[in-house]
Amino acid sequence: MTSKLALLFGSLVPSVFALSIPSRAASQFTTPSRVEVRPSSSLLSDWQQDGEPAQWAEGYPKVWGSEKVKYTQVKPHSRTLFGPGVVTPDDRFLVQMNDTNVQVIYLESNITVIDFLQTSDAARVTTSSKGGYDLLISDWKVSANKSYVNENYQYHLDSKGIPTGAPIKRAGGISSFDPDAIVFSQTDPYIYDLDDPKYKVVLSGHTDSVMSGAFSPNGKYVATAAWDGKGKLWHANNGSFIADFENTKAQNWVTRFSPNSKYLAIAAGPKYAKIHRLSDLTAPPVVIDGFTDWVRTLEWSPDGEYVAAGSWGQVQVYSLNENKIVQKWQLADASRWEVDDVTWFEGGQRLAYRVQGALELYDFETNLKYQWGPGPSDSFLNGFNIGGTFQLEREGWIGGFDWDHSVRFWEYPEVERRG
Ligand SMILES: *[C@@H]1O[C@H](CO)[C@@H](O)[C@H](O)[C@H]1NC(C)=O
Ligand SMILES: *[C@@H]1O[C@H](CO)[C@@H](O)[C@H](O)[C@H]1NC(C)=O
Ligand SMILES: *[C@@H]1O[C@H](CO)[C@@H](O)[C@H](O)[C@H]1NC(C)=O
Ligand SMILES: *[C@@H]1O[C@H](CO)[C@@H](O)[C@H](O)[C@H]1NC(C)=O
Repeated sequence: MTSKLALLFGSLVPSVFALSIPSRAASQFTTPSRVEVRPSSSLLSDWQQDGEPAQWAEGYPKVWGSEKVKYTQVKPHSRTLFGPGVVTPDDRFLVQMNDTNVQVIYLESNITVIDFLQTSDAARVTTSSKGGYDLLISDWKVSANKSYVNENYQYHLDSKGIPTGAPIKRAGGISSFDPDAIVFSQTDPYIYDLDDPKYKVVLSGHTDSVMSGAFSPNGKYVATAAWDGKGKLWHANNGSFIADFENTKAQNWVTRFSPNSKYLAIAAGPKYAKIHRLSDLTAPPVVIDGFTDWVRTLEWSPDGEYVAAGSWGQVQVYSLNENKIVQKWQLADASRWEVDDVTWFEGGQRLAYRVQGALELYDFETNLKYQWGPGPSDSFLNGFNIGGTFQLEREGWIGGFDWDHSVRFWEYPEVERRG
């Protein structure tokens, strides 16, 4: 189900967009901050185990320049910081984009297999039922009346990474907020079937931009979270409405089902995330609070026991069993740096996230931390860049899309287990 259907949202009208959100967010959405910034690293709260603060793993932090592979986009995307590219689920191909072109790079031999004209601002890729891959590229166009129109293109790539046939064009944009392929909408998200160009289900009911949507892992449900303060639950098979979750009266940014499809987390503007139990939709949700600011990145651990969520200069890890926050990582100057792209690895033993231009990783078993980031003479654009971290098991790499618009991969640190 999730590999076949994609959620895609309607068009973004920038005036509404800019009006609906704080100016800080508006500037980050549209263009990266042009101020070049360097990180400062003092911590208010570090990862810890039994009261002992985490230590750097031997040889870390590592700085830009010592990576295994680096690709540089010819010219960084000028309109957004979103979705600079993707890696295919089998780790074979890297797809990266700039304003005008999409490039497919075969990672094993490090060669560009194709470079074609396609304007874009976000991409998602999935394994195709026809073999090869389905690549979704979304784009904005300025219409004659100067409003922005989101459209998306579904390319089929064969097993060598080469597009076959013409792309299928549809309305809506892919969110960089969500692994299931979503985004910006004025109001109504769509469910598309990647195998059936005619299939389209409209999820009608939100009254402001939908920022995130997700399919439940069991394939039964779709959840959406929007700036109208609503979280909504729908039947995935026919798009019929099931329920509204408690109105947060604030912008909702991200929604995620737990791996067992029993819980739904919704992260909202006013410094909290809520966890709803799907078996009792009217029960009061569990509230995870204590965030420094809004929450725009949140992921369940693969075992469903933890929720990791990032805010400004902060990552909190909440335990469902213990019903409390069990880890808090926080910068001293938290308000300067938004955390993005929290990603679990090793079944929940490791957590990665991006902040201050760096990719960081914490290992809960060994209490060791890792960092791959800018050195003292490097600079980058401070912004928000979603969904750009990958572990390439085939190559033994970790990395992805960095804030200086380079794609770097590093040797994945070997997993050590205690006892
Ligand atoms: C692969 O290509 C990238 C970008 O041109 C380069 O930085 C890297 O050194 C190359 N790696 C190998 C193994 O050839
Ligand atoms: C985008 O990348 C292509 C190569 O993939 C390059 O030829 C083109 O000049 C780049 N576009 C911009 C605007 O830099
Ligand atoms: C502007 O044009 C777009 C598509 O061309 C249309 O969807 C939209 O309703 C128009 N907006 C106004 C305010 O006329
Ligand atoms: C949509 O599908 C669900 C689950 O199969 C079903 O319970 C519901 O009645 C359907 N709604 C409509 C309008 O067909």
